[in-house]
Parts: sequence; structure tokens; C-alpha cells
Amino acid sequence: MTEKPTFYITTPIYYPSDKLHIGHAYTTVAADAMTRYKRQRGFDAYFLTGTDEHGLKIQQRAAEAGQEPLAFVDGIVDGIQKLWQLLDIDYSDFIRTTEKRHEQVVQRLFKQIYDQGDIYKSEYSGWYCTPCETFFTEHQLAEGHVCPDCGRPVQMAQEESYFFKMSKYADRWLEFIEANPDFIQPESRRNEMINFVKQGLEDLCVSRTTFDWGIKVPFDEKHVVYVWFDALVNYISALGVGSEDESKYQKYWPADVHLMAKDIIRFHAIIWPIILMAAGLPLPKKVVAHGWLLMQDGKMSKSKGNVVDPVVLAEKYGVDAIRFFLLREMAYGMDANYSEEALVNCINIDLANDYGNLLSRTTAMIEKFLGGVVAPGSEGTDFDAELLELAAQTPEAMAKYMDKVDVANAIGEVWKLVAKANKYIDDTAPWTLNKNGEVEKLKTVMYNLAEVLRQVTILISPVMPNVAAKVWQQLGLSAEAAGQDWTALGWGGFPAGTKICRGEALFPRIDWEAAQAAAAAENETTEPEAETAEALVEPVKPEISIEDFERIDLRVCQVIACEKVKKADKLLQLTVKVGAEERTVVSGIAKFYQPDELVGKQLVLVANLKPAKLRGIESRGMILAAGDGENLRVLQVPAEIGPGNVVR
Ligand code: MSP
Repeated sequence: MTEKPTFYITTPIYYPSDKLHIGHAYTTVAADAMTRYKRQRGFDAYFLTGTDEHGLKIQQRAAEAGQEPLAFVDGIVDGIQKLWQLLDIDYSDFIRTTEKRHEQVVQRLFKQIYDQGDIYKSEYSGWYCTPCETFFTEHQLAEGHVCPDCGRPVQMAQEESYFFKMSKYADRWLEFIEANPDFIQPESRRNEMINFVKQGLEDLCVSRTTFDWGIKVPFDEKHVVYVWFDALVNYISALGVGSEDESKYQKYWPADVHLMAKDIIRFHAIIWPIILMAAGLPLPKKVVAHGWLLMQDGKMSKSKGNVVDPVVLAEKYGVDAIRFFLLREMAYGMDANYSEEALVNCINIDLANDYGNLLSRTTAMIEKFLGGVVAPGSEGTDFDAELLELAAQTPEAMAKYMDKVDVANAIGEVWKLVAKANKYIDDTAPWTLNKNGEVEKLKTVMYNLAEVLRQVTILISPVMPNVAAKVWQQLGLSAEAAGQDWTALGWGGFPAGTKICRGEALFPRIDWEAAQAAAAAENETTEPEAETAEALVEPVKPEISIEDFERIDLRVCQVIACEKVKKADKLLQLTVKVGAEERTVVSGIAKFYQPDELVGKQLVLVANLKPAKLRGIESRGMILAAGDGENLRVLQVPAEIGPGNVVR
């Protein structure tokens, strides 16, 4: 027997410092759908996910919770695994960076690179952004010493550290990218990465001594390995590289796809390949970055009551509908907006109206006109050829997109066939054929519809694995008769003479207005839940005098225009009015607000802050906001206190 071709896909490993939300779920659902699709196509597909459990952020959270870091993360990791189970994520392995099998590989690799002279000891003196867990050298910082990614203040870090000679590999990396133009996807991200490297790669600080929650540097135990160096290695440690049993590594490495959101592409497209180059290991084949799932009213927050918990959503709307919505909505490489209303619309339109209705109309007519039996007739209609042609083309059209990990467009191709089949019903008007006694034509039409439904269901089952079983049942097919993989797609696979078994609507329509009214009525009668006090995330800074405070000039300002800063995912450019004056302010809040949301709002501005240049734009002042990297809101001032007023 010939060996199956392999396909290895990974998601990022998640920080177990927070509960995962629906945005986190996107990558994992997409990787799961890709894996199922590849298996349908005859691949031996391997899918890895896991958790990234070391680092300062987690050590701090554990301390706040009064727990040892490992005990602290254990509970959260358990919750993450349960979430994946609920969402039908069929991963092949789940790696935790606190596992021995991982730690050993990190230590071995670190030592190997050190022994060959590509890691050296020095003094780190530079900047660190804790929410991003990222080092910045002086020249990478935006003016005003703020994080160039999120615009927030960075901390000075000065400690003995080991450095990785990234700079030595810059040219080799550029040559590799030139020779492998598809390595970074989408293309816009590729260009961004090339520009980044061309600006000059600095050596990377790869160990810390000021905290100890991490993997120890094997030859110098007061150092722990930098969390990103540690985390990236999971992609090979999980396969047992260098262990007694290297068979998985031999079989699946190099990975076919590392999938992630755009904010962490730099680590995957630059740092990880250079670590592998230094270690003399093969590089992955593709790094694919998707966009973010954004909330219409900014980032989710407990206090705003808009936290989108995938568990709650799955219970309310069903797992398959959630999976479908996530994958359908996130256009390739772009951000997508989440709202419950958009989810309900997707269920009502794409699932209930299009797919669900196709099944329900088809089975109803087969039952009513043909006694429930599916078999082609001896005569066809003028509309058959077009339907059959599209059915024949759809798998290839879908594959073209799936092979790029563009799942949204792949679903779009299948939905063209669903739409065509619904139109075919209108065109052929089976009720008229029935009335006119054109039984042979009628049989053919109903057979064609049942066959399209069989094909669509095979194609969409990686996205909605549970729906397929329900459709087979209604079509009267056993899973075997339906065919589960692409070899079953040939036209005419629907066994003639099958008796269907019409059932309930696949996706009952949701009355959004009524659901909203019911929820509002319920809220009126229940006391709002008291917000539990958040633990202090950052320690309070040393005392200052009232005179010190009075040096800061805080003013009410009104946002009159706002736009995203080009090529900076986290920055917004605001034009604000302060009294009669207009100013430009750049703020690192793009993750939490859409530009339109801010226009008209009255905010608090640090008006006498020394101007700073961020991405070439001079920012005059700083907008005050509360929260952290996950959750942040601007401070607002009521309308009766006009712009220019002093905040004391
Ligand atoms: N631990 C690192 C990854 C290390 S991989 C070697 C990490 N973890 S994370 O938990 O913060 O994020 C995991 C992934 O979820 C990232 O790709 C991140 O961008 C993604 N998302 C977090 N919020 C998201 C949205 N709102 N939308 C889409 N993806 C989102 O980063």
C-alpha cells in the first residue's frame, strides 16, 4: 500500500492567563476544518495546538491569584481543552510548554545554538513591553519611548542576558524569502516582514533573570529562556524531535502551515525560521496570518457586558452554526466584525434560507410527489446541464481556496452551488411538472437536487461536522452510502431507489427582534450583577507630591476625526478639539475601537506631554484609557463639560 501524503498544521499555543473568547476560537476552528478537509482528500493530516504557559505575565497573574504558576495554569488549561472539545476540535496532539518533552527540546536547542556560538552572554539594556511580552531596542521604539506596536509605555530592562545572533542570519532569511515567495501569506504580510528585516535585524535577547517562571538555561540556571523562544519550539518538540522516538518528526516536519492572527506573524515568519536555520533544521512551508475578529463596540469587556463566550454561543445557537459563521465571516487576511446580530443573520440567511431550505424543499417534494423515493427519471430538463456543470466544478473551485487556507472563499464556492440548486427548483418548477404529469422529468429534477445536497454536504462537513449526519439521515443515506471523502464526489453517487426520511428543519429561523425584546424584558426585572473588583494588575507606582501631579495638564478634548494608522495594527490617529485648538494625537487603541466609534466622544487628553512621532505622525498629547492588553476603554467626559476644560 502506498503511504498517504502528510499535512501538518499548527495553531499558536494559547496563553492560559485568560479565558479564551470567540476571537481566539477562530484560528483553532479554521485549523480543524483544514485538517478534516485534508483527511477527506486522502492526506494523513496532523493538527497541533496547545498552551504557552511560561513568562512574566503568567507569573504575575498566578501571584495575584495567590497560587503557584503551574497550579494556576492547570485549571485554565483544562477549561481550554474542554472548550476545544465542545467546538468539535479534533486535534492530533495538545502540547503544554510545561511538559518535560517540550522543556528538554528547548534546552537542547538553546545549548546547541550556544555551543556553536550563535547565542552569547551580554548585558541587556533596553525596553520591554509586558502586555506584548516583546523586547524593543532603542531604535525600534516610537518616539517618546512607547511600544511601537501598542503605543503603551515600555519598561526599562537592564539585566544580564543571553542574546541570539539574529543579525547574522538576516541575509540568509531574505534569500530564503526570495526563493520561497509563498512562504508568508497573505502577500501584504510578506512585504511587511521583508521591510522589517531590511531595516536591520538586531540580535534578540533570549533569556531573563528578573523572574523565574520559565525553562532554565541548562548551563546557567539563574536564567530562564525568553518565552517566545520557548513557545515557538513547541511545533517540533510535540513531534519528538531529537527524542528516542522521532518518527512523528520524521513524518510530519516541516509543517505545511503555521496558522495565526496577524499580531504574531513577526515571531513566526522571522524569529522562528531563523532559530531553525541556526539549528540546521528545515523551515516550515507556509506561515499564514488571518485578521482579527473585532467587536462592533470595541474590544470585549466584562464591565460592558459584551464578553463573547464561545461556550454560551454554542449552547444557544449550536456548535456547527458558530463554526460556520466564524469561517464564513473572516475574509482572507482581513479583520471581521462580530456581533450577535451578524451571527443570527448568517444563521437565518446562509444556513436556514439557503442550505436548510434546500434540504427541506427537496425532501418535502420528494415525499409529496414521489412517495419519498429518489431515483432518476428517463427524461431531463433544460436546466440540468448548468446545475451539473457547476456541481462538477465546485470541488476544484473550493480546493483552490482551501489550499491557500482561504476558508471563507472556499465556503463561498460551495454556497454558489447551494444558490444554484435553489434557483434550479424555481426554474424547473417541480410542482408544475407534477401537475402536468411529467413524472420522468420530475424524478430527474428531484434526483439532481438530492445529489447536489449529498455533494454539498460532503464538501461542507469539515466546517460543520455534525450537520452532515443529520442530512444523511433525512436523505435516507447511511454515512457509507453518502460517501465521506472526495472519492465519493462523482456525480450519480446517490443510490437510486433510496427512501428518504424527512425530518425537522436543520436550522430553524431565529427571530432576532423577538429574542432582543425578551432579553430586554428580562433585564428590567433582574438587578444588574455587581462587578467583581479586578485584582491590581500592575503595582502602584512610588508616591508623588501634589506639585508633581499639577505639572500634568489634563484637558477635555472632543474627537472630530479618527482613522487607522497605515501599517500599524494597533494605532489610531485622532484629530481632537481642545478649546479652539485642533491637534493630532496617535493612540494605541485600534484593537479596542473602530475609528467611527470615537468620533464625537469627549475624552481626557494629557495636553502638555512632549510631542512624539509614531509611525511618522507627530502625536501631541496622549488619550487616557483604563484597562490592559486584553481589555481597554477610553475615559469619557459628559457632554456638558466642553472641550478645553481642565481635568483636576
Ligand atoms: N502565546 C502566544 C502564541 C505563541 S505561538 C508559539 C499568543 N497567545 S494568545 O493566547 O494571546 O493568542 C493566540 C492567538 O489568538 C493569536 O494568534 C492571537 O492573535 C489570536 N487572537 C486573539 N484575539 C483574537 C481576535 N479577536 N481575533 C482573531 N484572533 C485573535 O499570542
